[in-house]
Amino acid sequence: MSKKTPSSIIVRNTQPQDVPQIIELCRRVYPNGVPWGEDQLSSHLRMFPEGQIVAVDTQTNQVVGMAASLAVLWDDYDLNTNWRDFTDSGYFKNHDPQGHTLYAAEVMVDPTMQGRGIGKKIYATRRDICRALNLRRIRAGARLRGYGKYADQMPPEEYVKKIITKEIGDPTLSFQIKQGFRVLGVVRDYLQHDPASHGHAAIIEWINHQAATRRDYTGRDPRFAKPRKKRTDPPTPDPA
Ligand SMILES: CC(C)(COP(=O)(O)OP(=O)(O)OC[C@H]1O[C@@H](n2cnc3c(N)ncnc32)[C@H](O)[C@@H]1OP(=O)(O)O)[C@@H](O)C(=O)NCCC(=O)NCCS
Repeated sequence: MSKKTPSSIIVRNTQPQDVPQIIELCRRVYPNGVPWGEDQLSSHLRMFPEGQIVAVDTQTNQVVGMAASLAVLWDDYDLNTNWRDFTDSGYFKNHDPQGHTLYAAEVMVDPTMQGRGIGKKIYATRRDICRALNLRRIRAGARLRGYGKYADQMPPEEYVKKIITKEIGDPTLSFQIKQGFRVLGVVRDYLQHDPASHGHAAIIEWINHQAATRRDYTGRDPRFAKPRKKRTDPPTPDPA
């Protein structure tokens, strides 16, 4: 369970003046290599300003979290597409205003503020964006950050199944499953040069029931189905 979210935290659309603070945030979250540069973050704001959000501590005016998204027409891609192609090398120039899918390219929270419900708040806003734009779904590649420890014991598909059944916890995928996502498949070589995940990611989806069509619920891989909740029979009344 997360600790209580400080009341001073708000989530709002990213503004151009937030970019330097987002880069600093990236440095704290990813000390071994900053994933987003000024060119890319500015490009996101030009392509799709409605899809870019930050969490800000209004007491300190510090950016403590961010999420970057674009809309895509899913039929232009397939499940095995890698991060570079989904995001046009991080620039989002492939953002398609006709797309039905919000592609969640990034979410991060300052390491000193993780575990306080800020990621959850960011995702609630992301779902609101999806609903407001009448998009059918959010999809993302959840890099399997904890897989490295298990790579010599099982293939990534097995690892993902164990996360779904909660036998193993993964720093990214366990969080995303809690946000209502389900796993559609596992992609190898999603994110090259990521030793923690060995490059593997789970492709995940949250459905916007207000906009989804019947077809959007079909074609699921049963290996990654969520375990059904056990039915508990009502207690038998004591004999009189
Ligand atoms: C993933 C991340 C965004 C989560 O943000 P956060 O603010 O720490 O998450 P929250 O506190 O809002 O947690 C929300 C829920 O997820 C759960 N959760 C969060 N991290 C978890 C973990 N490592 N394992 C299991 N559950 C986790 C929390 O317990 C909480 O559950 P609750 O709703 O029952 O209270 C954050 O850890 C992060 O920035 N990680 C580094 C960047 C990253 O890997 N991003 C994903 C790129 S694919």
